[in-house]
Amino acid sequence: MTSEVVAAAPVPVPGRAQRVRELALARQDLRGPLIPILHAVQEELGYVAPADVAVLADVLNLSVAEVHGVVTFYKDFRRTPAGRTTVTICQAEACRSVGAVALAAHAQATTGCGFGETTADNRLTLEQTYCFGNCALGPAVQVGDKLHGRVTPTRLDALLGDAR
Ligand code: FES
Repeated sequence: MTSEVVAAAPVPVPGRAQRVRELALARQDLRGPLIPILHAVQEELGYVAPADVAVLADVLNLSVAEVHGVVTFYKDFRRTPAGRTTVTICQAEACRSVGAVALAAHAQATTGCGFGETTADNRLTLEQTYCFGNCALGPAVQVGDKLHGRVTPTRLDALLGDAR
């Protein structure tokens, strides 16, 4: 089962710019405010849109290039909306030693997505992380907000099927 990868631009959300400005203003006095603000935007609005970057640059008196550079440097920040369910596979050492690399390859082949990509039906986004703190039960995979341990390719197929 292979799906096309989405490359569509995010749809503008009414009121988004105002909310981004409010989130930034509420944190602008923090020491090193940009990263906490970006986390707040992503947590509340799902991703950091290109238009958000200009708002943040304005509030923080930074250049658009400076804000864009931070957003693109840190892999934590999404620049497009995630799919309905995010599937995150641990790629840290303990999980890698028990099959996480092969599991990731299986997930990528099954979904047609690389890490950070979303299926064309917008149902699944595939992500990687470096340790859930579930190392004794690797390979660890989070589907939505539920963490699963000792995930085999067969079990992953079932989890992906449920998520779709
Ligand atoms: S190394 Fe995968 S959960 Fe810790």
